Amino acid sequence: MVSERKKFYITTPIYYVNDKPHIGHAYTTIAADVLARLHRQLGDDTWFLTGTDEHGANIAKAAEKKGKDVKEFVDEVSAKFSFAWDQLGIAPDDFIRTTESRHERAVNIFLNKLKESGKIYEGEYEGLYCVPHEAFIKESDLVNGLCPDHKLKPERIREKNWFFKLSEYQSEILELVDSGKLLIQPATRKNEVLAFIQQGLEDIAISRPNVKWGIPLPWDSNQTVYVWVEALFNYCSAIGYGFDEEKFRKYWPADVQVMAKDIIKFHCIIWPALLLAIGEEPPREIFAHGFFTVDGQKISKTIGNVIDPNEWVDKYGADAVRYFLLREVPFGQDGDVSEQKLKTRYNADLANGLGNLFSRVTTMIEKYLDGDVGEFIKSPRDLSEVSESFNRLEFDKGLVEVWETISWADNLIEQSKPWELVKTEPAKVKELLVNLAALLYDIALKLSPVMPETAQIIKSALESEKITKPAQPLFPKIE
Ligand code: ME8
Ligand code: MG
Repeated sequence: MVSERKKFYITTPIYYVNDKPHIGHAYTTIAADVLARLHRQLGDDTWFLTGTDEHGANIAKAAEKKGKDVKEFVDEVSAKFSFAWDQLGIAPDDFIRTTESRHERAVNIFLNKLKESGKIYEGEYEGLYCVPHEAFIKESDLVNGLCPDHKLKPERIREKNWFFKLSEYQSEILELVDSGKLLIQPATRKNEVLAFIQQGLEDIAISRPNVKWGIPLPWDSNQTVYVWVEALFNYCSAIGYGFDEEKFRKYWPADVQVMAKDIIKFHCIIWPALLLAIGEEPPREIFAHGFFTVDGQKISKTIGNVIDPNEWVDKYGADAVRYFLLREVPFGQDGDVSEQKLKTRYNADLANGLGNLFSRVTTMIEKYLDGDVGEFIKSPRDLSEVSESFNRLEFDKGLVEVWETISWADNLIEQSKPWELVKTEPAKVKELLVNLAALLYDIALKLSPVMPETAQIIKSALESEKITKPAQPLFPKIE
């Protein structure tokens, strides 16, 4: 019997192009890349989607501030995201931009379906809107009259909109989340969502009359689709909704949607309700990681602590940045990052840890075995404990396990003293090196989703006919 390949569809949020990517955007996208690489390694039919969110008043405003044509501006900033991902070794299967015609086409079909569902009505909204948030907010959410996230006074608007009957989905969404059919991780986020649903869901506006930079509502060209509603739909339009039925049926529903905690209400409440309204399944899992601070402070332009991931990649290399971000903060928790912390981990774990072990083992193979270690065990590509941890998005835990093996190997070398043993018992040294080669090879396999470039270098070195000590260290020490 031929077993069917499992499919695995993973997404990140599509990021706003009002500004270039920072280390927080990189974090989510690296994590998703690691999961995608792991699932490809396991043989799953994997689809990894990321992209950019390019419509709405906030982006139009950002372009205007720069004195640029909006389309020109979003093209430029979106390219910065794909460039940064490329530099970080992130390899998505697709990168969607909401200004692409494939997205606009799918959104049109989606909205028409929504209208047919009878869950849409015309109404009037009077209240507050936070522009950088692109969200309607309540008086009761304000702190000292300001949006607590953006520290800005929201706009008071009164406008005609089309509404979606979100309120009708209250019990269905509650049951979906509570039962875990829509799995929300970590549990603290699930509880937060449950508490929010229990307060009662209100209908939401799905269109805006005074926002030009958007997708026109199919049945009312005076309005554009509310940016969040069309942005959420990217996860479907990118895999061919309304266009490539076969591909869409193959990958939908998403297996994991990764994001930070800031946007879970949109993803855990509005998103599944919209899907239910058009007769599609909700995603299987939403994983919301924590928020980064830099040197203890919120990442902000005003504070001037925004870290451009390219700068770290240029100095330390992509694999070191990937390793650092996933090792430093347990996925799901808030945490603090800084260049100093990166440097410390780089020197301790990478230069002195993994890099040093690789150099020691290959140097000894060259010196004591003339570069020929012979056959050694190359572990099978099944789910090890390390990959099980990665698969549960416990990246730090998986990495700690690998580094325990590295220290264990270092101790083994210290204790067996091959440089002395070689004089009296060369066969024992050969045995030791065969085992160390197998161990290093295994480490490379396990690490490859997180550190693909490094893993490849280690594997190629160990697979070569004549193993030699590295021409340069994997991770040169940084002062
Ligand atoms: O919300 N720490 O886009 P966005 C960790 N376009 N992660 C962070 C972070 C931080 N300090 N700052 C940002 C949007 N992120 C919408 C999404 S999806 C249909 C539409 C990451 O550019 C994290 O993944 O504001 C967060 O959820 C996302 O960037 C928000 O990106
Ligand atoms: Mg944001």
